[in-house]
Parts: sequence; C-alpha cells; structure tokens
Amino acid sequence: MAKIIFPKNFEWGAATASYQIEGAYDEDGKGESIWDRFTHQKGNIVNNDTGDVACDHYHRYQEDVELMKEIGLDTYRFSISWPRILPAGKGKINQKGIDFYKRLVDELLKAGIKPAATLYHWDLPQKLQENGGWENRDTVKYFNEYAQIMYRELGDQISRWITHNEPMVVSMVGNLWGEHAPGFKDQQKALQVAHNVLLSHGMAVQSFRESGIEGEVGITLNLNHVYPNSESKKDQIAKDYCDAFNNRWFLDPVFKGRYPEKLMALYQEKFDNPFVMQTGDLEIISRDIDFLGINYYSRAVVEYDENELLNFKTNKPEAADYTAMDWEVYPQGLTDLLKRLDQEYTKKPIFITENGAAYDDQIAEDGRVHDQKRVDYLEQHFQAAHQAIKEGVNLAGYYAWSLMDNFEWAFGYDKRFGIIYVDYENDQQRILKDSARLLKKVIENNGLEK
Ligand code: BGC
Repeated sequence: MAKIIFPKNFEWGAATASYQIEGAYDEDGKGESIWDRFTHQKGNIVNNDTGDVACDHYHRYQEDVELMKEIGLDTYRFSISWPRILPAGKGKINQKGIDFYKRLVDELLKAGIKPAATLYHWDLPQKLQENGGWENRDTVKYFNEYAQIMYRELGDQISRWITHNEPMVVSMVGNLWGEHAPGFKDQQKALQVAHNVLLSHGMAVQSFRESGIEGEVGITLNLNHVYPNSESKKDQIAKDYCDAFNNRWFLDPVFKGRYPEKLMALYQEKFDNPFVMQTGDLEIISRDIDFLGINYYSRAVVEYDENELLNFKTNKPEAADYTAMDWEVYPQGLTDLLKRLDQEYTKKPIFITENGAAYDDQIAEDGRVHDQKRVDYLEQHFQAAHQAIKEGVNLAGYYAWSLMDNFEWAFGYDKRFGIIYVDYENDQQRILKDSARLLKKVIENNGLEK
C-alpha cells in the first residue's frame, strides 16, 4: 500500500447517536421515546437489552470528550434526543434537556472539537407515535418546531447540522420490516413515513436558512452501491429496482425534486394510492443543502426474482470477508458510490458521516483491545475514500462509526462497533482499541504512512 495524504482541510471525526449511548432514559424530565417503548417490550431486542443505561454518556460526557481529544478528533457527530428537549414532542420545553447539550457542546469547543449535530437519529417522542408518528403529517410540523428551537438555542455554537439520519432505515426497517421501533410491517405506512420524514427535512432546511445563523445544513443517507449478480438483462433490472428502493428513493427527491419513476409505477400498480403527497412537497424536499452525509458499510449484490415484490433478491458473495454483522467488507463500493454521487447528484461537499465495522472484541492480557480486523477495515476504507478524492470527488470529511461500543439497536450490546471499548460490566470503563490508535495516527499525519 502506498502512502496517502488527504487534502489539507479534510476533517476527521467519530460519530454516535443519543439513544445508543446516553442512557438516563427517564432523567431530568426526558420524555419516553419510541425506542424506550420498543426495547421495554420483551422479544424485540437480542437479550432484551435496552438503552436505559447504555454507555451512561449523559453522566460521563466529560470523560468521553477527553478521549476524543486524546484521539485528536477534529469533529464529533452526535444526535440530540427530541424527547429530552420536548418530552411530549411539542409544546413545553424541558430546559434541563437543552442544558445537557449546551454542556456537551461547551466541552467540545473547549477541546477544540467541532460539533456536528443530528436532529433525528430515530428516538421519536412516544407521545407523537400515539397519534400516528411519522405517518401523521402533523409530526412534520412538530419536527420543524423542534429544529427551530435547537437552531435558536445552539445555532451560535454548532455550525454543522444534519436534519435526519437514514430516512430509509427509519421508514423501511421500522415500518416495513418491523425490526426497529415502532415495529410495523406495512408497505404503505413505510412509504408515507419516508415521504413525511423527507418533507420534514426540507422544512428544517428552510427554517435553517430563515434563522440566519451561520453554518451548514444537510442530511445523512445510508447508501449502498448495488451490483448485479451477472451481466444478464434481468439482473440489470433487479439492480435498478434495488438501487431505486435503497438509494434513489431518497437521493432523487432531495437532489432532483422527484421520485424514481419506475419504482413509483410499480408501487402504484400494487397499491391503489401508495402514499399521500401534496402539491409543493417535492419543492420543499429539494431545498438546497450545503452538504450530503453518507453512511457506508457494505454493498448489495442482487439478482432478478419475479416472486419478490420489487423483483430482486439479495445475494451473499462467497469468498469474501464478513464482519460480525455478516456484512461483506467491500471498500471498492465506497469509491464507486462516491464517484456516482459526484457524477449524478452533487458537487457539494460530501461527508462520510458513518463507516465502520462490528467485530467480537476481547480485552487481551495486556489490558488492551487488539482489533486488527477493524484496523484493516478502516485502512481499506480510508484508501477507498482517498481514491475517490483522487478521481475528483469533493469529499470533505470522514466520521468513524462509532466513537465507542454502544446499543446496536435490534442487536443490543451484542455487537461492538466502537473504536473505544466499553466494559459495561466493569463500571463502564473505556479502553482505546487499536483502531482508535490507528485513527489518532491517521489524524496526526492526515493520511496513512504505509
Ligand atoms: C446507524 C447507526 C448504527 C449503524 C450500524 C447505521 O444504520 O445510523 O445508528 O449503529 O448503522 O448498524
């Protein structure tokens, strides 16, 4: 491997999300979220784990910022818990919730770390779910009000805002596959949720512009580049449907103000009225953003299957490396994806807002965590990102997922994604893994010395 150097202003960071790390699920006036409700119902999560305590970051944030400083992060991406700010999702503000994020942001700024805040990383106030959650268009309005509160309270200190994390997962995994809160299995509901989440993104972008605060606003999409299983025409069709379902259903409205035609036609054929959209919605959704955030973990390989609703099924390539999530390690997919975004969607800065891998980490006899596989994974993806930059992509930064081991949604604490090990059993002790040491070195050199 050759030595690689990133552009001068390239930003290095790590990411987390409120429900996955904070704990303190009912402290200081916080309201219940759909994830509190979902995890408290037995059978939804591996080992019936919950985020009640998680990494106890709510109380240990100072120690955690210290560790970020030790690694040398330029920037830290975290999310704000909506029900901490507005326990009922709307109406009365919980000042103690706002104060927590003010303390966190102060600490970050003191450490010279640039905060990047995600407004929605899946913890919808349960009270809003009781009125239909994201399926109800009123939630769009309440999200926008919540966004306005955060811009007002923290807009002078936070200069990078991400409206939503992964609308595809919110809508499909939570409402079509039922694996995430709120746990529905309903195609039309999922499509309505996707539309309303995107609409709320556009409204929050508009409010950001109107607020006059300085900084940048964007959205984070989970994108996995899709490859056909063969050169056949049919597999090509499968690839197009999968790409439309996973990627373009979200990219096209945001960047082009329209939904992918063929997939829309297919939904219309299967359902009378797949979802409700009002005139002007697409215009709002496609408001100009300042950057695109992408989360990249793996690719998809698909083949044609006429028995599937969307004509494709996913294949698992043999002779490949897999992570503990059973996700294929495929760094080339990151380069291909970035080039595609550059060619078809945007010349604006792109941030990799998540990339990383779960492995079964152990504390070694020397007290350290030698996560060589994660080190290899990260190095390969740094190379892949660098390759895209070399080919002209406007890639502006990289956030590792995750700063620390945390509550991995349906998998609970069973899967560890952190570059910092969290010893939940032993007073939540934090241990820098070898991957954190790698990132520290990469940041120092702004590249890889190989
Ligand atoms: C999410 C994270 C999650 C990660 C690994 C992304 O879908 O944004 O919250 O932990 O992937 O599954």
